[in-house]
Amino acid sequence: MRWIIYNISGIENYVADCREFRIILNKLSQMGCLPLESAPRSNEKNAKMNDFVFNTTPSIRQILGGAARLGELIKDLPISQPNAHICFVTDPGIMALGLADAAIENITSLGFKLTLFDKISADPSAESVLSAVEMAKAEGCNCVIGFGGGSSMDVAKMVALLVQSDQPLDEMYGVNMVSGSRLPLMLVPTTAGTGSEVTGISILTTGTAEKKGVVSPVILPDIALLDAELTMGLPAHVTAATGVDAMVHAIEAYTSRSANNNPISKMLALKALDLLGANIRMAVFEGDNKQARSNMLLGSMLAGQAFANSPVAAVHALAYPVGSLFHVPHGLSNALVLQSVMRFNASECSDDYAALAPHVFPDINLTQSNQMIADAFISRLGALNIELGLEAGLRHVGIKESDIEKLATDAMNQTRLLVNNPREVTFDDAVKIYQASY
Ligand SMILES: [Fe+2]
Repeated sequence: MRWIIYNISGIENYVADCREFRIILNKLSQMGCLPLESAPRSNEKNAKMNDFVFNTTPSIRQILGGAARLGELIKDLPISQPNAHICFVTDPGIMALGLADAAIENITSLGFKLTLFDKISADPSAESVLSAVEMAKAEGCNCVIGFGGGSSMDVAKMVALLVQSDQPLDEMYGVNMVSGSRLPLMLVPTTAGTGSEVTGISILTTGTAEKKGVVSPVILPDIALLDAELTMGLPAHVTAATGVDAMVHAIEAYTSRSANNNPISKMLALKALDLLGANIRMAVFEGDNKQARSNMLLGSMLAGQAFANSPVAAVHALAYPVGSLFHVPHGLSNALVLQSVMRFNASECSDDYAALAPHVFPDINLTQSNQMIADAFISRLGALNIELGLEAGLRHVGIKESDIEKLATDAMNQTRLLVNNPREVTFDDAVKIYQASY
């Protein structure tokens, strides 16, 4: 699409009073045209180019029904086929639903050995990683498949790494702290949200209920398989929460102050929001809509590629303690603090928010200042959460107002994320943001 920018300066009052003019401008907005005030969007073209690195999963396959032929993809892993012994990492919910049955049957029917580790829980612990590694080593596994939501995929990454490495897990936390290599790895998401299949990030909960991240391109998988059939049966609430998580990835990647924020991530974030914004309602309210499910899975993957290289910020930093202390699902934790963090950030990045707004809400009124567009964007995201059936505040997920100080204390430990935020967040700011999210 080509952007057309038009100038109404000097005739704003006439535009505001003239119904016909307003109709024309709204039509222009819907076609993707922008008022001149929104020109910072086009200034991206002249933005100073910084050095950056962009890593992603080398092979991404979108195959509807592909999980039932998962074994056939093993030939594309860097492993001698006849000797492949797969450590299949998943969670008990997936097994109970029979979601992995066809995949496992296909793998074993092709003569590959398979060891099942299906003890992954939400907010996976470092201990669960170590017990999976112990089992994989004892069984002689030489490649890993992670099949499930972000938790299963995050654990699978670490199993692939730790089976082959002598480096202790404790020394791997942080950015680029990993040394050594990993086993061949394939990831298969069963939710459209985390984008973990294209991120070199594994988030684990340590003994202190703190979430820590291992961030390294070494744990990007060899293959990501996107099979929207796997997401068809997801309940509406999970679809909504994971979908909003993906939107947050795109929003935070676009606005990230990381030195590695880059034009590829920005482009991916916009395309992700196009897909997520256009399909999230359909995916939630018409769960068996294959097109909507496929678009959500694709949007989630694109957002994952974006934030893997232009990392997320304060929404995630403040969401993590909500998840680790109160076991609120990750996507919902993000949704609960999203609006308040964006309102806090808006003074620093209203141009960016205005640029993102029409990608989620194509009908948003663009004939106003970027500040006003950003404000409307934030309000509409809040309204969308409610429309999708997500809880309206922290009070609705069992959190007491007296817990806010602890939440803020833990959030301040997420320095890896907070440094990427468009606006510096102090402890007092974090308290206020939680209060506004209450
Ligand atoms: Fe996330």
